[in-house]
Amino acid sequence: MSSNHLHIGGIDSIELIEKYGTPLFVYDVQKIRENARAFVRTFEESGIPFQVAYASKAFSSVAMLQVAKQEKLSLDVVSQGELHTALEAGFPVEKIHMHGNNKSEDELRMAIECGIGCIVVDNFHEISLLEALVEELDTTVQVLLRVTPGIEAHTHDYILTGQEDSKFGFDLNSNQADKALKRLLNLPRFRVLGIHSHIGSQIFETTGFEMAIKKLFQLLNHWKHQYQYDAEVVNLGGGFGIKYTESDQPLPLNQYVVTLTKCIKAEAQRLGLSIPEIWIEPGRSIVGDAGTTLYTIGSLKEVKNVRKYVSVDGGMTDNIRPALYQAKYQAVVANKINDPLIEEVSIAGKCCESGDMLIWDLKTPAIESGDFLAVFSTGAYGYAMASHYNRFPKAAVVFVENGKDQLVVKREKYTDLTRFDLSYE
Ligand code: LLP
Repeated sequence: MSSNHLHIGGIDSIELIEKYGTPLFVYDVQKIRENARAFVRTFEESGIPFQVAYASKAFSSVAMLQVAKQEKLSLDVVSQGELHTALEAGFPVEKIHMHGNNKSEDELRMAIECGIGCIVVDNFHEISLLEALVEELDTTVQVLLRVTPGIEAHTHDYILTGQEDSKFGFDLNSNQADKALKRLLNLPRFRVLGIHSHIGSQIFETTGFEMAIKKLFQLLNHWKHQYQYDAEVVNLGGGFGIKYTESDQPLPLNQYVVTLTKCIKAEAQRLGLSIPEIWIEPGRSIVGDAGTTLYTIGSLKEVKNVRKYVSVDGGMTDNIRPALYQAKYQAVVANKINDPLIEEVSIAGKCCESGDMLIWDLKTPAIESGDFLAVFSTGAYGYAMASHYNRFPKAAVVFVENGKDQLVVKREKYTDLTRFDLSYE
């Protein structure tokens, strides 16, 4: 172990690189557990009944979902593939919720047949599909109604979801939510657990969540008086922001819950409603800061008086976020963490595309080819959004915990890339 090397979860990152190669995703499992426990503990302290569901789109793999299961979380899946992964991981099916704005009949069938805990119904087409399926399978289903509360959270446009002009959910203002509820209450095979709203992602302020809570409780109040319907569950979605760089100032995870639970208690009391079970669906805030990507530095190019490009052996194929959302990251040279920062360089990926830049203007020690770069907070929407662009095989994923490392997703081989190709002669 060298003191000039970055350590992750008590393990020398350069030893991990020697063992597993690069690019490599390394997750500090203790950090994942701490993040999950921060949410759970704060809800427990609030006295409000709750479920914390891990939004598996942030990073889904069998090992990850086993950790979520060990932490007694529930699970949010958005596709048959995520559901399949959960079942392979032995995740308790009654604690799985399924999302999606265009769930297929196949997806819904699989979800119902495996006995999924709940389906978050998004639109009228889905109600029709479900109606036919529960009839055909002679069964019942528990649902939440996803509503768009008309809140504009402050985040990147592509990851905004709660505003009225959105592809997700039933619109509150045009009474779509009322129509959906009335329809479902007349269907004896449906049990409507309550409502769901997700206002966006990477949100630092609690104001948006508080506004959503007020809108949702207004709706519950209206439903109680209009339809004598009492919701058992209010799901507030995910979206709790994390720190990528020094300029990000998220709240500590427990603070998000403290604010939400206070607001819920106040709203319930004001309207004379009983407090329903509160569900949240954090993804990024569970795994984001637990993940680090390790790369090998290859070519260096200096554009005189402009900038120095430092290329790594990955890029937009393992982290699309800078190219897609102009997302910013912090990084260090993993084999020189105590060396003085004397250069300013820009980190380029290796795809044939100028937009494949991971970090602009990063302060580093003197860099040479063969050094290693560690990019922090890549645990969410990194591996999950990885692609095969330029036919790069996907990276490996390693978990570290208690001074031990374990490979949890194998590195792809070139033969994996042509596995489904058929010849045409
Ligand atoms: N629940 C629902 C219904 C969602 O749509 C999402 C994220 C979550 C929960 C989890 O949100 P989180 O806690 O992870 O912010 N690819 C983007 C993020 C898109 C998120 C989509 N939905 C990114 O890399 O920033």
